[in-house]
Amino acid sequence: MKTLFIDCSPKKKLSASGFLVDMTSLFVLGSKKKMKLRTRAEHEEILKELEDTDTVVFTMPLYVDGVPSHIIPFLKTMEAWCKEHKPDLKVYVIANNGFIEGRQNEPLMQNMENFCIRSGIKWCGGLGIGGGVMMNVMRIMIVVVFAIAVLNLVITGMNTGNFLDKNIVIGFLKDLAEVLFFGCGIITFDIWLAACINRKKEYGKHYTRIMLPSFIFILGADFFFIVLSILKGGVFRGWLSKKKPTLP
Ligand SMILES: Cc1cc2nc3c(=O)[nH]c(=O)nc-3n(C[C@H](O)[C@H](O)[C@H](O)COP(=O)(O)O)c2cc1C
Repeated sequence: MKTLFIDCSPKKKLSASGFLVDMTSLFVLGSKKKMKLRTRAEHEEILKELEDTDTVVFTMPLYVDGVPSHIIPFLKTMEAWCKEHKPDLKVYVIANNGFIEGRQNEPLMQNMENFCIRSGIKWCGGLGIGGGVMMNVMRIMIVVVFAIAVLNLVITGMNTGNFLDKNIVIGFLKDLAEVLFFGCGIITFDIWLAACINRKKEYGKHYTRIMLPSFIFILGADFFFIVLSILKGGVFRGWLSKKKPTLP
């Protein structure tokens, strides 16, 4: 059994879709291959990989309530390829979006289901995740709490000779549990999806989100975008930016 993970985020690094590929592949058994789909240059290579693939997992961001436009040319090419080669493929999708509600990914799931029907391949369902951006915050937090714990252990070790202070280790585990709590819905639904891939079963459509109250998420998002706007474009990104868009 071979599973092909296709990360459809246009971001080169630190994408939530890339993180979801890494996390899901941890729980999927058998042969695995991870690929990126950003430009047309990758189409041929992915189609070649499909020749001996049983299961495809697309991970992608939600763009304007649907599939990102740079994916459409690939889906058209893959549809033609499927009609010609008639592969026995199973397709799963993991989508994430910026707003807090994972259910916003429903139109994207319908797009992908229709694509599978037209291509004659098996739609096995998908997972929609709200507040996807927070997954980056989560992984950064994990690295930070780990680094602080290691630094603490080294300093304490040099002072006392005990390089494995129990209180520091327990403190680290508590911090880690708190960070993981925010992702517990995502982790649970992701493991469930991986179990369905392993058992070649349909997953259906499920939606989850980062476990943060909406009002806190919105405040955080507002703060983040105001800072980003000031640093990258002016107070209101675009309106007050010195660099104006040029017409083609
Ligand atoms: C052009 C564009 C359109 C977007 N449209 C939506 C949208 O309709 N709804 C939403 O919740 N998030 C939207 N987002 C936010 C992304 O879905 C979100 O940032 C996602 O976490 C990015 O995933 P990635 O890191 O895997 O690329 C949009 C982002 C961009 C750049």
